[in-house]
Amino acid sequence: MRPSALFACLWASATALPSSLPAGRDVSIVQLSNQPPSDLPTTWQWTSTGPLVGPKNDGRGIAGIKDPTIILINGTHHVFASTAQSAGYNLVYFTFADWADAPNATFYYLDQAPLGTGYRAAPQVFWFAPHKLWYLVYQNGNAAYSTNPDINNPKGWTAPKVFYPDGMPKIIEQNIGEGYWVDMWVICDSASCHLFSSDDNGQLYRSETSLEQFPNGMSQPVIAMQDNRNDLFEAACVYSLPDGKYLLLVEAIGTDGHRWFRSWTADSIRGPWQGLANTEQNPWARSNNVQFDGDVWTKSISHGEIIRDGTVDEKLLIDPCNIRFMYQGMDPSAGGEYNALPWRLGFIAHNNPAC
Ligand SMILES: *[C@@H]1O[C@H](CO)[C@@H](O)[C@H](O)[C@H]1NC(C)=O
Ligand SMILES: *[C@@H]1O[C@H](CO)[C@@H](O)[C@H](O)[C@H]1NC(C)=O
Repeated sequence: MRPSALFACLWASATALPSSLPAGRDVSIVQLSNQPPSDLPTTWQWTSTGPLVGPKNDGRGIAGIKDPTIILINGTHHVFASTAQSAGYNLVYFTFADWADAPNATFYYLDQAPLGTGYRAAPQVFWFAPHKLWYLVYQNGNAAYSTNPDINNPKGWTAPKVFYPDGMPKIIEQNIGEGYWVDMWVICDSASCHLFSSDDNGQLYRSETSLEQFPNGMSQPVIAMQDNRNDLFEAACVYSLPDGKYLLLVEAIGTDGHRWFRSWTADSIRGPWQGLANTEQNPWARSNNVQFDGDVWTKSISHGEIIRDGTVDEKLLIDPCNIRFMYQGMDPSAGGEYNALPWRLGFIAHNNPAC
């Protein structure tokens, strides 16, 4: 999620770069094999809901609801998302049981919590089992987090603390160009915790600290992956799979100007990442592999998250047999100021699981 006040038409007319693969990554192994890793298919098909969640008519003047993070516990979906308007970004929390109830979910704005007012965006929620605390990771100009012992209590989120007390790490300063530092994401294995972020300029970064030290001690980042700016833009998610492998998703800007997702797998959070479905012809999720229940309300399959169901701890385990992704989409004819675009939230459900 990009925080600036530029114009949407700049994105629509973004240079059409070839959809090339990261240097040094051999996807032919995956493409030629009939044995995809971790029960994941090498081609993906989805069915989408309509737009289910948008701004309320509640006087706040919010233009878009964006960047959802979602978990399903005890039959309740818990969602945290960005609220976007010309004046800037903050966060909202809501819950619902069935997807059909999502349009009527009550909004709890997190500027009412100690988490506070001002720029906060692109949240990620997880239960950090060693601390018996919920963590909400988000961007506030740095990589920030708040904690809460009870996810059901939106007033319980603490004031922001940052992962990089010295400010933007040098390697990001050196590579960010005209981009923005966005979309922080934490995932841990049994020994260490890793913090991913993007620079809207073709770099995906990764830092790490030990499980014992988390949330302190984040290392200087390394470049986890690098590609053309549009092909490796932002909104990275990393999940663990039941066989111990990892799935990486990164949002790209398509040659048609619309957003879509690429995917990779690896044996370790440190990589190396092998392409799974990561081209416009064979995307993870893009307008050309998503069918709609009803109107085709969006051509962008943009910033979102796979529903974590059951296990919601720092290992971010997902079930490859039942993938449902909450995403942001938008009326393709909408335009105007970037922060005031009318993003809405919907779901895509995976149609052709390999298991
Ligand atoms: C889920 O249900 C269990 C058992 O009733 C309860 O202990 C737990 O607190 C619930 N979790 C949440 C997040 O509400
Ligand atoms: C949402 O609320 C409106 C107004 O209260 C009601 O008319 C509508 O049926 C509700 N929709 C759902 C899906 O519950």
